[in-house]
Amino acid sequence: MAPGPDGNPYFLYTIVLLLVGALAPFFPDLHQYAILQYYRFNTHQTNFSDLNVVSKIRYNDIILPNPAVDSKVLHDMNAFGFFYVIDIPEYDATKELELLKHVFELPSDVKHTFAVRKHNPNNKNVYRGYGPAVDNVGTQYKEVFNIGPHETEPAFDESSDFSHARHISKEKNVWPSTDNKSFDEEFRDTFSKGFRIRVSIAKAVINCIGRLFNSPSLINRFTHHEFSTLGLRKYPKRSRNGTKLTRSELDNEVLTELEHVDSTVTVLSTFFNPGLQALYDGSYRDVPPSGGGFLINIGTLLEDITDNRIISVRHRVKDIQRDRYAIPFFFNPSFDADISTSVNGNPTPAGKETPTFGHWMTKYLPAVEPILLEDDSLGR
Ligand SMILES: *[C@@H]1O[C@H](CO)[C@@H](O)[C@H](O)[C@H]1NC(C)=O
Ligand SMILES: *[C@@H]1O[C@H](CO)[C@@H](O)[C@H](O)[C@H]1NC(C)=O
Ligand SMILES: *[C@@H]1O[C@H](CO)[C@@H](O)[C@H](O)[C@H]1NC(C)=O
Repeated sequence: MAPGPDGNPYFLYTIVLLLVGALAPFFPDLHQYAILQYYRFNTHQTNFSDLNVVSKIRYNDIILPNPAVDSKVLHDMNAFGFFYVIDIPEYDATKELELLKHVFELPSDVKHTFAVRKHNPNNKNVYRGYGPAVDNVGTQYKEVFNIGPHETEPAFDESSDFSHARHISKEKNVWPSTDNKSFDEEFRDTFSKGFRIRVSIAKAVINCIGRLFNSPSLINRFTHHEFSTLGLRKYPKRSRNGTKLTRSELDNEVLTELEHVDSTVTVLSTFFNPGLQALYDGSYRDVPPSGGGFLINIGTLLEDITDNRIISVRHRVKDIQRDRYAIPFFFNPSFDADISTSVNGNPTPAGKETPTFGHWMTKYLPAVEPILLEDDSLGR
């Protein structure tokens, strides 16, 4: 493109976009196209050094369709790969943090009673339940407790495709059973409700993406979302003495969670903890914590499904030299959902090998959850 009079190579482009923008209200598809092109163009000029500029959207504004909110979400998902949701009715981050700390402070033998099978062979569950921090896993150092959407024992259907993975996706939750019954009850009630709140936000995000890309049926790929998981996380302070620390290959930073991208939609609570970093233009930047709200980031499958018009940002957790707590919620498509076609009907990179979500997870999940899973835990 020829440089404009002010030396800005995008000058002409801006003029064209302004013209398109002026005509856009009369042509809905053009409108959408103009929004997309505008934000793509503006991303060239995004200054990533201060992530405090990322939008904080009120819960009530994301739940209902609102073009002004949609375009903010689109801008931030396109430029940064994430945004915040705040002012969530009936959500109390402080209460969750308190219960989360308490559950990880329980004695090891108590936690062992609700550990996943890899750590307690007497238990059935593979993915929902407790996993201790283990030093030799390499890519992450954290204690975990996973909660899913299911409260009844699934039947095992040997004849179905990917029967092991399918069964694990529907595992019945295990809940802590301690000598304090009021704690047990409060824990279960709080996180069951916390699960539902996050599902409603994640669905709102998918609906928003569906509107932005003219694909209102996108939400139908999420009807069952069997694999969805609320993950309680404690990253214990690491001793600097003698421990083999995990360091970034990029900048040698000590990490408790190695660089990765998520799968679909993540609704994350980092409370008031620093440590989360995201990669822009080749360097990692500090992501401001979610406080009393949530940080929403999208994963590689949604990047594919939107033909790369929103980005899954690569991120990691650095060691902050004290205990760190976080709760990601991973919202997923239905087990049998098609991931092979984008909103525009193009073939997706993920879908070339694994056309359905459940199949895709058999490869992805063991790689990102080495504390809980073996390579072949979900079958092959
Ligand atoms: C980006 O923002 C930072 C902090 O606000 C500022 O110090 C820096 O000069 C900006 N960089 C550019 C290229 O505008
Ligand atoms: C039992 O749990 C409740 C609710 O979490 C808590 O308020 C109370 O202090 C606990 N009691 C004991 C003895 O730890
Ligand atoms: C490292 O070891 C020294 C000597 O054993 C001890 O005084 C210090 O507290 C240890 N530091 C950490 C961070 O564990």
